[in-house]
Amino acid sequence: METKKLNLKNSMSELEKANNLTPGAVLGIRRPYNFVEDEFPIYFEKGKGSRVIDIDGNEYIDFLCAYGPIIFGYREEEIDKAVIDQIENKGFCFSLTQTIQNRLSEKLIELIPSAEMTVFLKTGSSAATLAVRTARSYTGKNKIMRCGYHGWHYWCSKVKGGIPEKLQADVYEFEYNNLQSLEKLMQQHGGETAAVILTPIGHPLGHKIEEPEPGFLEGVRELTKKYNTLLIFDEIRTGFRISLGGAQQYYGVTPDLSLFGKAMANGYSIGALVGKKEIMKEIEENVFVSSTFFPNSLSFAAALKTIEKMEKEDVLAEIWDKGRRFQIQLKKILEKYDVGAEYSGIPPMPYITFKRDTENIYKSKRSDFYAQLIRHKVFMQPYHHGYICSRHTEEDLVYTLNAVEDSLRYLKKKY
Ligand SMILES: Cc1ncc(COP(=O)(O)O)c(C=O)c1O
Repeated sequence: METKKLNLKNSMSELEKANNLTPGAVLGIRRPYNFVEDEFPIYFEKGKGSRVIDIDGNEYIDFLCAYGPIIFGYREEEIDKAVIDQIENKGFCFSLTQTIQNRLSEKLIELIPSAEMTVFLKTGSSAATLAVRTARSYTGKNKIMRCGYHGWHYWCSKVKGGIPEKLQADVYEFEYNNLQSLEKLMQQHGGETAAVILTPIGHPLGHKIEEPEPGFLEGVRELTKKYNTLLIFDEIRTGFRISLGGAQQYYGVTPDLSLFGKAMANGYSIGALVGKKEIMKEIEENVFVSSTFFPNSLSFAAALKTIEKMEKEDVLAEIWDKGRRFQIQLKKILEKYDVGAEYSGIPPMPYITFKRDTENIYKSKRSDFYAQLIRHKVFMQPYHHGYICSRHTEEDLVYTLNAVEDSLRYLKKKY
């Protein structure tokens, strides 16, 4: 049965206003066309735990987790309290750096296999750009082989407006889980290649998540050694979600440099470049990195508390366990209805996509499915995988499985 459309009056009226205030009303992936237009809310009012409430008062179980930063839940008291303590008792924005930065650095070095030194920034894009710049400076070479999303900066943006061609001329893309595609590029350009950068898990927008096939990451590691090229893991999504040491610890392949952000601070703005001392020391003199806000300590306080809590409560084990049970049930339901819906991902990062067909019917199925889900007040993204967080309860998951089943039943009838 079709579920009733949500009341989104306030969202739509704010959207109309915003169209005259901000180009595209809201930025990037939060724009309405990246969901199902007229079905999804545009603005949230607040959130707590696993729940978010939009400005029309609709309450959802959220599986997008702010696109990754929320690892515990919204407004996690202990973490917010650590931040408030910093504000009330010390302050966070000064002309000099506070030592809390060193404490966070020590923690990352303890946890992450490739980390011998760290640099903190405020976004993943900055960390990715710093990684590439450092690699170019250290190796004295220019070319970059890349695979995955690394943010919005010049060298890797897919949308080319305002980017001189020459700024991307030395950047080549290879395919995830296709070692040959990298090998071919390296045969041609290996001698001039500064770094290979990739996300350790493949998570292209709108497509199934891919785990590394046996030997893929190891093969990339070997190739980079063969050509004297640095290996960079972009762990912005996998860091502090797959394991405390990142995907590099989980899959046992150690890169030279890697980037962290998102889940590290449960929502506070942070990016980190970590890596081998010898390479990181390039930043001492030859690579310029500076920003008014990079040393601000709020995110360091949040990150330290987030990591401390994750260690103490073994949160990732709990998330994996919950995710595994959710995955098993989800797969069963998808198989039962057989409408082309497919599960992919790893337990902490589940995703439902639709099998492609030549007539593009899968696109309507996808819109219908996600529209039904949001009407059931389950917030999942049609083009982006979801996340399981610590505050997802068993009831949340059971409710969601029922909502998925209802939505598939609707699809089965319609198609
Ligand atoms: C894998 C990956 N790398 C880099 C980035 C860029 O990070 P930010 O959005 O914090 O600049 C993202 C953001 O989604 C990401 O998913």
